[in-house]
Amino acid sequence: RSAHYYYQVIKDNGFPMPDDEKTLYGFFPEDFRWSTASAAHQVEVLQTHGKGMSIWDKFAHTPYRVSNFDTGDIACDSYNKIDEDVEVLKKLKVTNYRFSISWPRVLPDGTNKYINEEGLNYYSRLIDALHVTLYHWDLPLALQRLGGWENETIVQRFKEYADVIFERLGHKVKFWITLNEPYIVANLGYGYGTFYIAAHNLLKAHAEVWHLYNDKYRATQNGLISITINSDWAEPRNPYKEEDIDAAQRYIQFFIGWFANPVYNGDYPEIMKTIIRERSLAAGLPESRLPEFTPAEIERIKGTHDYFGFNHYTTVLLHCELISNQIYSKVETVADRSWIESGSFWLKITPFGFRKLLKFIKDNYGNPPIYVTENGISERGEVNLNDLRRIHYYETYINAALKAKTLDGVDLRGYTAWSLMDNFEWASGYDEQFGLFYVNRSDFNLPRIPKASASRYASIISCNGFPD
Ligand code: NOJ
Repeated sequence: RSAHYYYQVIKDNGFPMPDDEKTLYGFFPEDFRWSTASAAHQVEVLQTHGKGMSIWDKFAHTPYRVSNFDTGDIACDSYNKIDEDVEVLKKLKVTNYRFSISWPRVLPDGTNKYINEEGLNYYSRLIDALHVTLYHWDLPLALQRLGGWENETIVQRFKEYADVIFERLGHKVKFWITLNEPYIVANLGYGYGTFYIAAHNLLKAHAEVWHLYNDKYRATQNGLISITINSDWAEPRNPYKEEDIDAAQRYIQFFIGWFANPVYNGDYPEIMKTIIRERSLAAGLPESRLPEFTPAEIERIKGTHDYFGFNHYTTVLLHCELISNQIYSKVETVADRSWIESGSFWLKITPFGFRKLLKFIKDNYGNPPIYVTENGISERGEVNLNDLRRIHYYETYINAALKAKTLDGVDLRGYTAWSLMDNFEWASGYDEQFGLFYVNRSDFNLPRIPKASASRYASIISCNGFPD
């Protein structure tokens, strides 16, 4: 009997497969950008040729910080293997490659007093037609000693660094990202309360660099510049429970809204201002923990985008446990038991959330052109070159993106797979592998070996979607 027969039986019995779970056959536009990504500290190599120390070099060398005491000392040695990396990019047939510039490789002590020409030269070779991130978490250690993102002088330092990069490399670059995932920089890098200060300075630093490019370089260099904001999608665990619904809405505003609202609409989300203020006063503080922007600052930050740079991986469910009728004691983020797991505790396969969040960006931030600057899945343990789970992830997520574009009218311009190759996954070291290419770390040459997902991604790219 044919598949159609069984489909009909299921349908007649009242259990048709919901439309949003079915594959949508169709294509992305001709000029769609297909990309993959990496970040300096996760792939390059530590102290080569004049590079200064970053906060991550220090962190990884502090005992017990990173799984297995792994470090980025060697990472994927991309600094020396630039030709090999370009070769594997060609195999993938991507139109773009997203990588980051290491601030301390170019300015070893974080300031423009001394420029490391050799570091600049590396990026200049790598850079043709690529998507470049200015800050992907490896702050010069010298600036951390002054307080890092908590010290407002960093706004000026970041501007000076960007000025060096635009001046020296800007003629080659069409896509800039100022900051990668400021939410993570602030939240995971700083303690409770101080993370609001760090976030405040991150937003100002982004805005200053956008204005610098806009005023001084845009006319001659003609690129696009924006910030990359990450967010999970959130839903109530119980869709009929008001507390869960409210918590999911708050979660989204405190996540994507924290950075997107100032940049796209002006100022922090109202709900954030109200809640943090109430909580701060209740804790006996004289004022809100959330710093205020002056009206002039709100105007200066608003509109500092040429596109929406968006990193996305997963969805969470919000669950509130009530202790009395009105007051709930505990709000937790949970996963549905049906969701397929990954090699990271925080990441489950939930493509529907990707589509909803793309639509959310369209509806809440003025229908901007969106470039997905990261999306992908990890595995753990022994390498699995036949990585079917990753193939499933990419097929369903890219298809969700196609639905967002075709059915929901989202202005989606590009998609980036994280990551090109297995690399140093921050505090998880080499335990969690996100790569399309496996890097054999026990081989001195660190060869890049394609996983099955690399050829599946390449075929989606060459078909430009999902042919019927
Ligand atoms: C976010 C970060 O930008 C990237 O550096 C990291 O490796 C991936 N997501 C996976 O966690």
